[in-house]
Amino acid sequence: MSALPGSPEAAATTGLDDSPVEPAPLDLPPLTEQTALEAREIIARYPVARSALLPMLHLVQSVQGYVSPEGVAFCAAQLGLTKAEVGAVATFYTMYKRRPTGRHLVSVCTNTLCSVLGGQRIMDALSSDLGVHHDETTADGSITLEHAECLAACDYAPVVTVDYEFYDQQDVDSARELVAALRRGEKPAPTRGAPLTDFKGVSRQLAGFSQYPDAAAAAAAIDAPGALGPTLVGLRLADERGESAPPMPRSGQSEPADAGEARETVRPSGETGETPGKEAADARVAAADNPAEKAGAAQAHPDKGAEYGRGRPPGGLDQSGTDTPAAGEPAGGYQGPGAGRTVEGRTPPKRKG
Ligand code: FES
Repeated sequence: MSALPGSPEAAATTGLDDSPVEPAPLDLPPLTEQTALEAREIIARYPVARSALLPMLHLVQSVQGYVSPEGVAFCAAQLGLTKAEVGAVATFYTMYKRRPTGRHLVSVCTNTLCSVLGGQRIMDALSSDLGVHHDETTADGSITLEHAECLAACDYAPVVTVDYEFYDQQDVDSARELVAALRRGEKPAPTRGAPLTDFKGVSRQLAGFSQYPDAAAAAAAIDAPGALGPTLVGLRLADERGESAPPMPRSGQSEPADAGEARETVRPSGETGETPGKEAADARVAAADNPAEKAGAAQAHPDKGAEYGRGRPPGGLDQSGTDTPAAGEPAGGYQGPGAGRTVEGRTPPKRKG
């Protein structure tokens, strides 16, 4: 008979500890009645208590620096879950730490774009300087180093974050300087966004509470200057060209409020043509590389569905089981690149900011 999962016998067999997190260090700050009060405040934000688990795990990290065994039990008790359920969530997401985290969490993106531009060299240099590898903390408790998958800032590659604040376009030297400053107790200003605090502080923010001591400090963080950089180039160009997104459909509508007659695209060159939706549908039909895909693309085409496809049977599903629009019925959702171009003769309201 095989051993039960999680039992000592199973752990001996598999070599895996049945505890999802490391044992607590002796000097771990306790979870107090104040923590419980704040947990109940988080729970009250949700119609179903268990939905509060993710911010509650951040709350635990804001006190203890990681999701400790005590933190797992605390969340389970507050939410009426089993410790196994809480552990399953805490061990799924990389933002929940299973070992005590240093004062600062330094994440180096080593995903494709950052890596080819030097991200791996940065990771290797910091690892060598600090004497730690991925997910390890320096002996003085100042830095936890980790490599990260894409940090969603590829246009600033190679990217390093400290406590999830961005330091863009780093190289080995600048990253070394950054980490040396952190170890001296300094908090260099991130390239953009809010000022740097520390891992526990940002964990408190992720739990939905202010990490700043007073309203003035919070306001200063919100108003912190940041570089606009390449991310917003598209918005600036659209503004210069007078392009803007069409209005969002009102609740219960599948089309923008001003939808009606066919609209023509106005390109930056001044030429006009088919509507963006038709252009995208044409492209999808042309790109289909097998009959079934072509039929599906044609079915979704606002003009040609009747020509290529089948009508939608009662119940909304075609014979392949795919929920495709009926002939002539506009396809919902994304209409391809350029769907938001300016419409000649009717300028939609411009988005602010
Ligand atoms: S690859 Fe590094 S931020 Fe995307």
